[in-house]
Amino acid sequence: MVSASRVISFIGLLALAASLPLSEREENTAWAPTINYPNKWTVWCVGASHHVYWDTSNIPANFNHAIFNLTLVANDTLFDPNHPLAKNFPLDVGAVTITVPSVPAGKYGVDLSSWDAGEGWSQSFEIKDC
Ligand SMILES: *[C@@H]1O[C@H](CO)[C@@H](O)[C@H](O)[C@H]1NC(C)=O
Ligand SMILES: *[C@@H]1O[C@H](CO)[C@@H](O)[C@H](O)[C@H]1NC(C)=O
Repeated sequence: MVSASRVISFIGLLALAASLPLSEREENTAWAPTINYPNKWTVWCVGASHHVYWDTSNIPANFNHAIFNLTLVANDTLFDPNHPLAKNFPLDVGAVTITVPSVPAGKYGVDLSSWDAGEGWSQSFEIKDC
């Protein structure tokens, strides 16, 4: 005969199993790559080349096949999203080389994002004609 506590713990296990994929998904969509450079001390000159790099430790498994773009951000929106600074790279490369586009001097950020994984923004930094 199956005891009542066994039945309850079995149901508990089923509930746990059912909840795992969901919590995993939530964790993955909430996860965002941390961009280490550029940062708030950065000044970029128009036309210069730089590496942009981000933290590749603890990348969730399902991000490994996602394809990312790096796009300039100005005033909290993507700047010229049809012309990303770099495009179609996997997150685990850890860095891309970009050329600073000819944009008005001011405060900018960069956005690292893919369609089916997370998105990370850098700190705000400066671009100027120098
Ligand atoms: C951001 O907003 C400021 C203030 O409205 C404006 O002067 C500046 O040109 C904007 N920057 C870009 C890149 O659009
Ligand atoms: C990357 O940029 C290209 C445009 O150059 C665009 O077609 C593509 O959808 C973008 N991908 C992402 C993940 O934003």
